[in-house]
Amino acid sequence: MKLVSVDKLEPGFVVSENIYTVDDRLVLTKGTVLDDKDIARIKAYSLYNIFVEDKKKVVEKKEEKPLSELSYAEKLRNSEGFIRFKQHIEENAEKLEEAFRMIANDSMQLDVEKLTEPVYHLFVEAGGTAGIFDMLHNLRDNSDAVYMHSLNVSLISNTLATWLRLPEEDVRLATAGGLLHDIGKMLIPSELINKTTPLTEYEQKVMREHVVKGYELVKGKDIDSHIKSCILMHHELRDGSGYPLHLKNEQIDHISSIVTVANVYDEMTSKRLYRNSICPFTVIEQFENSGLQKYDPNVIMTFLTNIVNTFIANRVMLSTGQTGEIIFINPTYLSKPVVKCGNEYVDLSKKRAISIVAVV
Ligand SMILES: [Fe+2]
Repeated sequence: MKLVSVDKLEPGFVVSENIYTVDDRLVLTKGTVLDDKDIARIKAYSLYNIFVEDKKKVVEKKEEKPLSELSYAEKLRNSEGFIRFKQHIEENAEKLEEAFRMIANDSMQLDVEKLTEPVYHLFVEAGGTAGIFDMLHNLRDNSDAVYMHSLNVSLISNTLATWLRLPEEDVRLATAGGLLHDIGKMLIPSELINKTTPLTEYEQKVMREHVVKGYELVKGKDIDSHIKSCILMHHELRDGSGYPLHLKNEQIDHISSIVTVANVYDEMTSKRLYRNSICPFTVIEQFENSGLQKYDPNVIMTFLTNIVNTFIANRVMLSTGQTGEIIFINPTYLSKPVVKCGNEYVDLSKKRAISIVAVV
């Protein structure tokens, strides 16, 4: 680790410590591999020196592996399409932050069509429903938590509404509801949003106010009532254990039910400031075990059956330490596919003690 002047930063350096502005706003998280855009961002915040790991080590490590040995995910992350998508989603996250800030302080009108337009471009760029999860699963360590998360949830809600074969208007509402669901977080103290350790009970209570604060912000605005419901209800669960109103079953808006599933999946599979990302198969298993009580059964089953299929041909690591490729999905145990490790076929539905611990 060394202290480097911002003027001497180059793409490839790895950030050693979380970087904050003078007023304590998080700029980049520890472990970020700097690219030109990150460096421009650090300079824009008038920072002088930051701690980084030596660039050479990272570059050499990357070049050690011949192309033919790269996994599906590694090849994807090296592809031009992914690099372009990553750049565009990051640019749009920054624009969204600015737009949310202006909407929250009433200096900009809430124009749903204009706000969601970039989501449709990103969706097409990712290759539609077939490619969007490939992209999102490889973008799991970004620090623009709220805004990147909003874009992810919007893209996932759009895909899920499409998988559910809902009418075009509902797909558009799910896309907008997903984008705006956490707008109330603009009205929560940034120390809580940027906190790098788990929230205390009191802080969780304050954080939960984002749904009501968001709803208060939009309730008088001329936008569809389903979008308002997504902002208010995206943490409601069908068994009544959600918040803020402890609604049950059909009391929960049907578009919001889609955003809820998209939100939980993205939240759990993304890296957070206070924890690493959770393996998608662990999340899928949790959904399989308790999902039918908490979420709309049609929504959750459609989501799970489609999402596991996006992992076919991916290389995964098992709890035994072996790595292999997913070759077959078990329709009755979605989180327990058949994995080909070398010449061995491991059917996880029959070897229940073994689980997938990471997509590599
Ligand atoms: Fe939320």
